[in-house]
Amino acid sequence: MGNENCRVAVVTGASRGIGSAIAQRLAADGCHVVLVARDEAKLAAVVESITSAGGKAESRVCDLSDSGAVEALIEKTVEDHGRVDILVNNAGINRDGLILRMSDEDFHAVLAVNLTAAFVACRTVARPMMRGRWGRIINISSVTGLVGNPGQANYAAAKAGVIGMTKTLAKELGSKGITANVVAPGFIETDMTEAMNEEVLVEAAKRLPLRRLGRAEEIAHAVAYLASEDAGYVTGQVLTVDGGMVC
Ligand code: NAI
Repeated sequence: MGNENCRVAVVTGASRGIGSAIAQRLAADGCHVVLVARDEAKLAAVVESITSAGGKAESRVCDLSDSGAVEALIEKTVEDHGRVDILVNNAGINRDGLILRMSDEDFHAVLAVNLTAAFVACRTVARPMMRGRWGRIINISSVTGLVGNPGQANYAAAKAGVIGMTKTLAKELGSKGITANVVAPGFIETDMTEAMNEEVLVEAAKRLPLRRLGRAEEIAHAVAYLASEDAGYVTGQVLTVDGGMVC
């Protein structure tokens, strides 16, 4: 690594679920992790579990649906640490409904957190990463962005948008030593899936080649690989971690 200190990683939506697992894994791999979400207390609990395990972490409260706040968050992190080496846009929400009943508000709210926030964070981090001639951008999409899902026109649009945007960033930023990749989870056991009907989940798991739901840590492993030195020749890819759902 070119820099004297450890890598600085920003992980959005890190207060729980997949984001928390990613933050813990990157910290275990030696990064200084900046955890971002809205809930200060939950963020503090994740930071505490990282630091008590000997890792380096700090939290930043930010409403990612506010583009100005996202830009300020990245700028402040660069100001404090001199750089951001790894950006993981993980935060996401869903507001499901069939197309005939989906309001403009629900469409735009889902786009704002899942896609626009990721765009603004990528745009803001690009210049400092270019200066360092090293960077890893990892955006969390979903299998829904690949194949669609009834009731999720907004979420599918956002998650497919994340894929198109990331492939474009791979092409724009590759010559500066920056890779950009997507991880597309299938059904992962988190608060997000807990909100779903349990019977539906059990049935869905039975139909998967691996016959079970995934764990947040299994997404974190994929992110850790894409963030690593070892993945230096991998860019513009979508890594599905879905028990074989889409194959
Ligand atoms: P979760 O609902 O457990 O956690 C979402 C995180 O995003 C939380 O930390 C929350 O505070 C944060 N967040 C949401 N809106 C925010 C806002 N406006 N400002 C700041 N932070 C905000 O979700 P989960 O399951 O951990 O999902 C993480 C990512 O993985 C999301 O992008 C989700 O779409 C994606 N995903 C999850 C799947 C699953 O089965 N759990 C499947 C496919 C994709």
